Amino acid sequence: MALREIRTIGDEILTKKSRPVTELKPRLQTLIDDMLDTMYATGGVGLAAVQVGVLRRIVVIDVSLEQDSPVVLINPEIIEMSGEQVGDEGCLSVPGKHGQVKRANYCKVKYLDRDMKEQVIEGEELLARALQHETDHLDGKMYVDLVEGELMDVQIYDESEDEE
Ligand code: NI
Repeated sequence: MALREIRTIGDEILTKKSRPVTELKPRLQTLIDDMLDTMYATGGVGLAAVQVGVLRRIVVIDVSLEQDSPVVLINPEIIEMSGEQVGDEGCLSVPGKHGQVKRANYCKVKYLDRDMKEQVIEGEELLARALQHETDHLDGKMYVDLVEGELMDVQIYDESEDEE
């Protein structure tokens, strides 16, 4: 297991466009393994390669409660979107913050899997949100630019302040 350092907002790399993957060399397989480890270790539901400093069009997502259903998307491309949802969003590259973002409620994405085979994934609600959020990262876009209203601080729940 290897964790990679997550780049945070203000780091110029996060504004750059990632390049497509044409061949999945061992170095990129290792990158994907590390991205999954890093996403799980930090409690995220998605991570794009650019967030660990690699400008390649690779995304990992797992929105399952058990965190046991990873999806690896190489060169993902949104081919259909519909509906609307407004909900809370955060990003590992924007620690301690969250905000309300309007997204399509349904999203269909074409991508290559780890065997470079073409696949299609469809999602609604949280999965659709994650697919849009992570695909945006590959084009240098951050959710903070889409936030409606204020970008808020995450409230840390402190048990010591509990009253009986
Ligand atoms: Ni993000």
